[in-house]
Formats: sequence, structure tokens, C-alpha cells
Amino acid sequence: MERSYIMIKPDGVQRGLVGKIITRFEERGYKLAGLKLKQADEALLKKHYKDLVDKPFFPKLLAYMISGPVVCMAWEGKDVVAMGRKMLGETNPLASAPGTIRGDFCLEVWRNICHGSDSVENADKEIALWFGEAEVVDHESAMQDWIYE
Ligand code: GTP
Ligand code: MG
Repeated sequence: MERSYIMIKPDGVQRGLVGKIITRFEERGYKLAGLKLKQADEALLKKHYKDLVDKPFFPKLLAYMISGPVVCMAWEGKDVVAMGRKMLGETNPLASAPGTIRGDFCLEVWRNICHGSDSVENADKEIALWFGEAEVVDHESAMQDWIYE
């Protein structure tokens, strides 16, 4: 089944939004396959944001992302990559509809609360980057038969 890498950024952790964000994915019907708190460093973030390393805003992005611990999550389920992006909202909170995580909880692009993988291919790479093999768990959820036809 498809998985997405969803990460609560340092502002989301400090503002006490971890439980609310986890609840949204749980309530939608997704299954948690990996979860941990981690202090990221420059080397890891340069790999994670490899396509943005040359952008003028990258140093600021780096400073933001290492300003405190992040919550790393692997969520599993039908279309979770595309749906995860929808649930997050747009990069800019101003463009994010109410009802999305960014549309409900933040005001600034530099404090946009969470990350979600933008393709299935990148999701697999990001999960492999942020988690050790044994930290992502295959398991059955008792609710699956009520969520999937
Ligand atoms: P992530 O889920 O964090 O990857 O955000 P995203 O996919 O919505 O946007 P993108 O990967 O393009 O940018 C990564 C992050 O850089 C954003 O989420 C913002 O926190 C930050 N950022 C700040 N300013 C800018 C900007 O001008 N353009 C973009 N693209 N990102 C910015
Ligand atoms: Mg991105």
C-alpha cells in the first residue's frame, strides 16, 4: 500500500499541534507505519530538500528546520501522497483553504507547520532517508475492512 512521509516542522511541535495533526490522518482512515521525534541536522536537510539547496531562500529554510525537533511520520493508505498534500494545503498559508492544516493553523510560509511528500517516488525516498528499516512497521489494522471496500 502507498505511503507518504509527513513531517511536523519545529513550529508545529512547539505550538502543540502534534496530536491534532496525527488525529486528522487517523480520522481520515490512514494507518501509521512510522513515528518519531528527531532533531534534524544540516546534512540530513540538504538531502531532504536536495531540489531546493541552490535556491536563495535555502539558508533560511535550513535555519527554520533545525530550530527545534520535528516529528517524522510514515502514513499508509489509498492515495495517501496526493491526499496528504490536500490535507496540508498550499505552501503559502494565505492560499490554503480553511479545513486544511496550513489553512487552519498558520499565517506565514516560514511557519507552515508541516511537510508532505509531493510524489510517490519522493515519499519512498524520504521515508528511507528519515527512518531506519526497522522503524517502519508492516501491520494489520482492525479498522481496514470498514475503511476499504
Ligand atoms: P514542504 O512540504 O516543506 O516540502 O513544502 P512544499 O512542498 O509546500 O514547498 P517546497 O518544497 O517548494 O518548499 C519547502 C519549504 O520552503 C516551504 O514549505 C516553506 O517552508 C519554505 N519556503 C519559504 N519561502 C519559500 C518560497 O519562496 N518558495 C518555496 N517554494 N518555499 C519556500
Ligand atoms: Mg516540498
